[in-house]
Amino acid sequence: MADSSLQKTITTRLLLPVILFLLFESSISYWVTIHYVDQTHDSSLLDSVRSLKQEIKVENEKIYIELSENALEIFTWNDQDKTYFKIATQKQGVLAGDSYLPKPQQKINWEEPVFFNSYYHNESVRIAAIQVKNQNLPEPVYIYVAETLNKRNKMATDILLADLIPQLFFTLLISLYLFKGVIRGLSPLHHLTDQLAQRSPHDLSPLSENHVVTEVRALTDTINQLLARLSSAITTQQRFISNAAHQLRTPLAGLKLQTEVALREDNISSMRPALYQMQSSADRASHLITQLLTLARSSPIEGSHQLNHLDLRQLVRNVCIEWVPAALEKKIELCFDDPKQGVWVRGDALLLSELLANLIDNAISYGAQSGHIFIKLVSGLHPYLLVADDGLGIPLSEQEHIFERFYRIQGSQGVGCGLGLAIVKEIADLHHAQVQLVPRKNNQTGTCIKVSFTL
Ligand SMILES: Nc1ncnc2c1ncn2[C@@H]1O[C@H](COP(=O)(O)OP(=O)(O)O)[C@@H](O)[C@H]1O
Ligand SMILES: [Mg+2]
Repeated sequence: MADSSLQKTITTRLLLPVILFLLFESSISYWVTIHYVDQTHDSSLLDSVRSLKQEIKVENEKIYIELSENALEIFTWNDQDKTYFKIATQKQGVLAGDSYLPKPQQKINWEEPVFFNSYYHNESVRIAAIQVKNQNLPEPVYIYVAETLNKRNKMATDILLADLIPQLFFTLLISLYLFKGVIRGLSPLHHLTDQLAQRSPHDLSPLSENHVVTEVRALTDTINQLLARLSSAITTQQRFISNAAHQLRTPLAGLKLQTEVALREDNISSMRPALYQMQSSADRASHLITQLLTLARSSPIEGSHQLNHLDLRQLVRNVCIEWVPAALEKKIELCFDDPKQGVWVRGDALLLSELLANLIDNAISYGAQSGHIFIKLVSGLHPYLLVADDGLGIPLSEQEHIFERFYRIQGSQGVGCGLGLAIVKEIADLHHAQVQLVPRKNNQTGTCIKVSFTL
């Protein structure tokens, strides 16, 4: 519904039946009015026809008409309408009146008076006609009286207006009432809009729910929930930034200190220990920046994550190959339990490689020297990936924290900054996959991390 307004929709929905009722009622009134006006005028037209009946005279078997003053008055008295008449027989033809007054078109049963509409002198007329037939008359006499429709039309219009004007007035009143009602009914929404519009972007406190109607309460509840989530997300973000800044400061401060130490030395060999320290600080800073960038890339806010069908087996093989030299450096054997067939999941190849790289990096960093790293990929309805090492493992008390950002177990070696497993978790979440620490087989020491995918 593009650009639709609740106010317009409700008002239209309420007004439509009122207008339809008015139209329906008006058309019924119209037909009833026309019918009764016709009936009234037809009966007075018939009276005029019957009054002419008395003017028929017979002498020597010949019919003639003697129009009295009274009779003629009928046809001159009316100032709104023109009235015409015609008296005729079959044999003698037109005896009096307007010879060209039209006859009925169809065949007529003359037992009853006849009424029909026609045109005369370019005007619509209503004609009443009767047949006069008795033993004194040598042949039937036909009397026609025609009248223009001005009086009828005026009367019908007057009655209709008298009916329609109050109705229109009431419809207008109802519409106004409905319109005001809708505006009043929607005012809590407008109030809510104002409340939100006036807020500063830093104000994430919940919206007031005092005097809020039930229907709007659901909306304010949802907005309040959203505000609460937003506020917690912002707090997390701020904590993350201050943590990142702090983590960056440490290697940079070290770098500065080592540079000062190195500068105090005169020859290169005495400088060497400080230079090694500098190299280590630079490694640490560079690792941290790489991790931060990976974390930013895997954040759902960054968007644009195209999850494609990809073969996890191929991906795991490629990452393993990349990590073989690093493993060999610590005399660690990297074993990949190849599933011998493709394991297809929906995912982002770059991020999944990053996930596995972090797990292997940890296994190399915290696994046993000259130990083994086992990587297993299992296909099926719920494919999963296992990365296990035979190091000391993660103490039970630490297990619930290790996926938190910047969390490191005290005394951990290496250039890590506590972001590796947080990255793993975030990438898994993005793929609707689950990461969990699982016990190693046969109570062996070490760490085993399982990433379960859904198809
Ligand atoms: N395979 C593992 N074996 C033992 N400890 C591990 C293993 N993987 C992670 N850890 C522990 O969990 C902590 C968090 O890991 P991680 O998030 O990768 O951060 P980092 O490696 O930068 O310290 C590490 O400091 C380490 O102590
Ligand atoms: Mg790590």
